[in-house]
Amino acid sequence: MSAPVRVINHPFVQHKLTLMRQGQTSTAKFRRLIKEVGILLAYEVTRDLPLKYETIETPIAPMVAPMLASEKKMVIVSIMRAGQGLLDGILELMPSARVGHIGLYRDPTTLVPIEYYLKLPQGLEQRDILVVDPMLATGNSAVAAVDRIKEFDPLSIKFLCLLAAPEGVEYFQQQHPDVPIYTAAIDHKLDEHGYIVPGMGDVGDRLYGTK
Ligand code: URA
Repeated sequence: MSAPVRVINHPFVQHKLTLMRQGQTSTAKFRRLIKEVGILLAYEVTRDLPLKYETIETPIAPMVAPMLASEKKMVIVSIMRAGQGLLDGILELMPSARVGHIGLYRDPTTLVPIEYYLKLPQGLEQRDILVVDPMLATGNSAVAAVDRIKEFDPLSIKFLCLLAAPEGVEYFQQQHPDVPIYTAAIDHKLDEHGYIVPGMGDVGDRLYGTK
């Protein structure tokens, strides 16, 4: 059985997602929104982070209080280049997280992902990994990224996106049934170019104003 797909349907996330989908949203606004959504999604994805308890002094009295046990143990791996927008938001919430990058581009005719860059922190075998890419479209890039990360035998892997296509979810779950998917929405389908419909267009282009 596959790990669950978690759709994060918080009203703030859904509202911001709608603004991002609108074609007339400017690059500056799109960039701000993806960062804000990144913060909100990171909040949900990290719900199960372990806590440790430490004795502290408030101005009134000592107490045993919860703190994150292992923020530094988490590694965010951004699939370049669109992953950067979500990454910026996630790092607002988790400034001590370690960051890896994987560069994959889609061959425009075959849609097969080709790796052109890989830089990951040391010691992944002792770390929990969050792989981020705004669009789970065909699933090819996400599957290739997780294939590569699994070579380093990390403690756990989660995959976070903004939008998913049913085709991408199905393929990802076939290939990596142990990796849970977190997304803000599952759209209708893919078009013949591998874009999500209705989607929000090319996130890299919208984020960097390259079109
Ligand atoms: N990548 C994008 O940026 N948009 C899509 O719709 C699919 C993949």
